[in-house]
Amino acid sequence: MKKIPVILDCDTGTDDAIAIVEALYAPELDVRAVTTVAGNVSLRYTSQNTLNIVRYLGFDTRVAVGAAGPIFGEIIHSSATHGDTGLGPLVLPQSANAFYEKNAVETILEEARHAPGELVLIPVAPMTNIAHAVLAYPELVSLIKEIVFMGGAMVGGNMTTTAEFNAWADPEAMSIVLNCGIPCRMIGLDVTEKAVLNREDACFFRDLGTKAGTLVADLLDFMFQRFSEGGEDALMHDGLAVAAVVQPEVVKTQPFYVDCECSGKYTRGHTYVATNEIFFKKGEKPERCEVALELDLPLFKQFLRRVIARSQA
Ligand code: BDR
Ligand code: CA
Repeated sequence: MKKIPVILDCDTGTDDAIAIVEALYAPELDVRAVTTVAGNVSLRYTSQNTLNIVRYLGFDTRVAVGAAGPIFGEIIHSSATHGDTGLGPLVLPQSANAFYEKNAVETILEEARHAPGELVLIPVAPMTNIAHAVLAYPELVSLIKEIVFMGGAMVGGNMTTTAEFNAWADPEAMSIVLNCGIPCRMIGLDVTEKAVLNREDACFFRDLGTKAGTLVADLLDFMFQRFSEGGEDALMHDGLAVAAVVQPEVVKTQPFYVDCECSGKYTRGHTYVATNEIFFKKGEKPERCEVALELDLPLFKQFLRRVIARSQA
């Protein structure tokens, strides 16, 4: 089986952490690097969390540091959802290992050149790194196979009525990426909100008795506690994007013209999905982004269990 070369771009983050675990253990994926960006918490924490997780699980995957803030405007964090340092109360052993010598943009370029037409990017965070990469190196448009991202929503939002966090934290970046010409697949909030895990799932992971299983179970326990206090449930936003790369059928998609609103008194950060022809006549704007519409939750859970159960120690 030829593995799919991927780069996971994270703002680690509780659900990002689970996405990293999935990607590392999925036998179908070759995680060429994990790149980091400011988002849920500051770049310092998202980067260190990422490095700690990867090394704690015994992988030598490169971790490349990216942007400390959005292309334009203020830095926005989501520490109310993920805790001050990004992983709730979890404290992992501090990895003494160094970050990769190249930054996120240079790492994306390096890997895209290494596997022309094959590399899949999985941004599960504000799209700042990806936007900087395509602006700096237009050749990436023909080198990258696909961008499968968690962000936006066909309808609704979790930061404003119409904006999802990753889109809202850097709307310019999301718009640049959606307009750059690389095929995109959007795993939006209205679908990831249905990717919810429960205590039975947490027991399954804890019973594995491995570092990865325990880490995922501990993160889920934090999420259950958060939910009981009125916060977000155990939603696998980012993990669903990883699953969709391996098993596209976990979500049903349809192609649409999509852009991200960068202005608008109330709508900045809204991902506009052209579901009718009021603004564009058919064919006038390319239907360039596959948008997730429905989730197959049992299949997604099956995927999660299958890959995390591969952890051995
Ligand atoms: C997205 O925002 C972050 O809080 C999560 O990690 C996810 O990427 C959901 O809106
Ligand atoms: Ca994230």
